[in-house]
Amino acid sequence: MLSIEWTANGGWHAPRITPYQNFSLDPATCVFHYAFAAFDGLKAYKDSSNNTRLFRPDMNMQRLNKSSARIALPAFNGDALIELIDQLLKVDERWIPKERGYSLYIRPTMIGTQKTLGVGPPGSALLYVITSPVGPYYPTGFKAINLEATDYAVRAWPGGVGDKKLAANYAPCIVPQRAAASRGFQQNLWLFGEEEYITEVGTMNLFAVIKTKDGQRELVTAPLDGTILEGVTRDSILTLARERLEPQGWKISERKFTMKELADAADDGRLLEVFGAGTAAVVSPVRNIGWKGRLVNCGLHDHEEVGPVTLQMKNWIEDIQYGVEESIWR
Ligand SMILES: Cc1ncc(COP(=O)(O)O)c(C=O)c1O
Repeated sequence: MLSIEWTANGGWHAPRITPYQNFSLDPATCVFHYAFAAFDGLKAYKDSSNNTRLFRPDMNMQRLNKSSARIALPAFNGDALIELIDQLLKVDERWIPKERGYSLYIRPTMIGTQKTLGVGPPGSALLYVITSPVGPYYPTGFKAINLEATDYAVRAWPGGVGDKKLAANYAPCIVPQRAAASRGFQQNLWLFGEEEYITEVGTMNLFAVIKTKDGQRELVTAPLDGTILEGVTRDSILTLARERLEPQGWKISERKFTMKELADAADDGRLLEVFGAGTAAVVSPVRNIGWKGRLVNCGLHDHEEVGPVTLQMKNWIEDIQYGVEESIWR
């Protein structure tokens, strides 16, 4: 693991790569009481020449800096942390799986370590990075999931911190997730407001493929209005779609859309695909959304687990991640 301590007086201390080990922290340490914790998540992949590749790590560094800044934790140099992660990956090289679909998950985390019950900016912090090999999200192939449109619990709100990867955003989602699971839905589809705007799904951004009323194909996701996590996968899908689908007549939209719009499109046979997007699975196809006592079918036939656009996006992104296709996204 990689650890770098910070103190208000001394700034960042020398980084250390050590065996994975426990921390010893005072019970009054501020992270335990006031949730001074931000994290990020990315993966290292092996290409066919056995080179280790990271996928757009600069975006994770920027996001972790933004998340940390929001809770008064110190800024760090993103390029320097990427270099240190590269060093860590050299030490941990044997843990990076070689097959496509497999990778080494990397979890950079920043916590406030000041020993105090006083509520204030932490005078000390720890930035650390741990890793774990991970396999394909769907080992036996895609399995489309069912979502429960959730309006009674709210993940994020305007002026809040839903666009930051703060630890405190995640624990409150578990009880609604467990409730959805008890009704047969794998994840919550977080709705917002009386309009029931679609925001995100579980810990993924959400995309829908719709045929508009005038027959155009549209790929739509919610805009970055402060309530949506700025997903690296989301950005990659939008960029690839603008490059490769727009010239074929597609409309690529970051706009607000409601659950009713989705249900109306489904009723008219215009809802073609829905999928979640995130580092863990790249894409996660959706079969049905439970909403107001009905199931909104998201375009998959009974025998299908994934739609063509969802599959295409996964292949395009994985080709870059595993170095099959060269790209500026290192
Ligand atoms: C709430 C939330 N939305 C979206 C995402 C997807 O982001 P990314 O594509 O950067 O993994 C994540 C995972 O990091 C998340 O936790």
